[in-house]
Amino acid sequence: MALNFENDEQKKCYETLRKEIESIVKEVEYDELYGQKLTPDDQFYKEGVVDRLVFKFCKANQFQLEGSRAQLKKTLKWRKEFRPLHAAFKETPASSILDEVCAVTNSDKNDANKKVITWNLYGLLVKHKEVFKDLDGFMRFRIGLMERGLQLLDFESDDNHLMTQIHDYSNVSMWRLDADIKKCSRAVIETFQQYYPETLYAKFFVNVPYVMSWLYEVIKMFVSEDTRKKFVVMSDGHQLKDHLAVVPKEFGGEEPLKSLSIANVEPNAYVKYLLDKDSE
Ligand code: HEM
Repeated sequence: MALNFENDEQKKCYETLRKEIESIVKEVEYDELYGQKLTPDDQFYKEGVVDRLVFKFCKANQFQLEGSRAQLKKTLKWRKEFRPLHAAFKETPASSILDEVCAVTNSDKNDANKKVITWNLYGLLVKHKEVFKDLDGFMRFRIGLMERGLQLLDFESDDNHLMTQIHDYSNVSMWRLDADIKKCSRAVIETFQQYYPETLYAKFFVNVPYVMSWLYEVIKMFVSEDTRKKFVVMSDGHQLKDHLAVVPKEFGGEEPLKSLSIANVEPNAYVKYLLDKDSE
């Protein structure tokens, strides 16, 4: 696994924060990030995984120690309260339609960091806009999907420590973007930005009708420049083939998304342990 530093200052930021992990965990009284244990034990802890996660927080903060430390602490505190693992593995979706329009796939044949993909076929929600009325329910589902994706990554690898996300917007030209949708998307965008730094490799927006491209210009203002650079907007779903070796039938491939997707992502041993402890 390679952690690439451009200079000694970056390395120093990383090494300082890495050494502080145990005291941070003690301070916030929470020892879990993306389903991984942060402090040593002889059962669940993987040193290389924690190295990678700490690096992500430093990178997202341009290797400024204060900002990296603050974001990490905030993230752990948020996880303690929001319980994203519970959302991912213990809760049923607020609306069953959400399960039908969202999926996670894992295709080894795709290039580096495009193996694990979360799919949001938001265009299919045209007749189910009520799901956006329940902000909390929508958030818990969307964050749950994110966490299931994270479980499939390998933080010790160089080619599978980031995920790709796809939004399909077919049918949306008939939509009015109402206040509920705006509220839900803003909330998810902010949560990802604050609490999931350096987890995304690329985000593809497909079947975006030409008449809706103005919306892209609006939404992208809420997103940091670093994240924006990862976005690719396509008017046709078949253009996905230019980016992925394996695409579902709906986008010109062989197998339908439903058969490619993983219905039940298996949580790792530490996550199982935490969830069991939680329900005692
Ligand atoms: C983000 C829903 C239309 C571009 C989001 C998010 C939601 C959402 C829930 C939060 C992030 C996520 O779930 O991953 C919708 C709905 C639409 C719509 C229901 C129906 C009208 C569009 C259109 C575009 C667009 C037409 C144009 C390309 C974006 C962008 C983000 C986003 C750039 C930010 C992604 C991120 O920061 O992760 N949308 N959207 N959306 N959407 Fe849409």
